[in-house]
Amino acid sequence: MEKRRLAVGPLGDFPVGKFRIVSIDGVEIGIVRLAGGALHAVRNRCPHKGAPVCKGILGGTWPPSAVGELAFERDGEVLVCPWHGYEFDLNSGLELYQKRPTRLRKYDVGVEDGQVFVLI
Ligand code: FES
Repeated sequence: MEKRRLAVGPLGDFPVGKFRIVSIDGVEIGIVRLAGGALHAVRNRCPHKGAPVCKGILGGTWPPSAVGELAFERDGEVLVCPWHGYEFDLNSGLELYQKRPTRLRKYDVGVEDGQVFVLI
């Protein structure tokens, strides 16, 4: 099936680091612009138990480390679900630190002539 390209608003309506939710055919999609300029579009439904995942925290992660060591990585690229704290890599959509990770539903998103569009 061919994808549809839908305009969802001017780029200025998408502040850095804050999800904006749009509804397309009854499906909520969260769109966020990262500090580096990349846009991501994610279905606003956690693959674990269905939470509105885009209302979670957008930040980084503390990967497993040795005793006495602590590292913070991927600042601004990790979405933490508001219900149970699962962490998702916004770039891949994959849940972090799992051998069989769940995955966020992602959509292609871009900008043309200052307008943000989503392919669904
Ligand atoms: S519903 Fe998202 S982690 Fe459980």
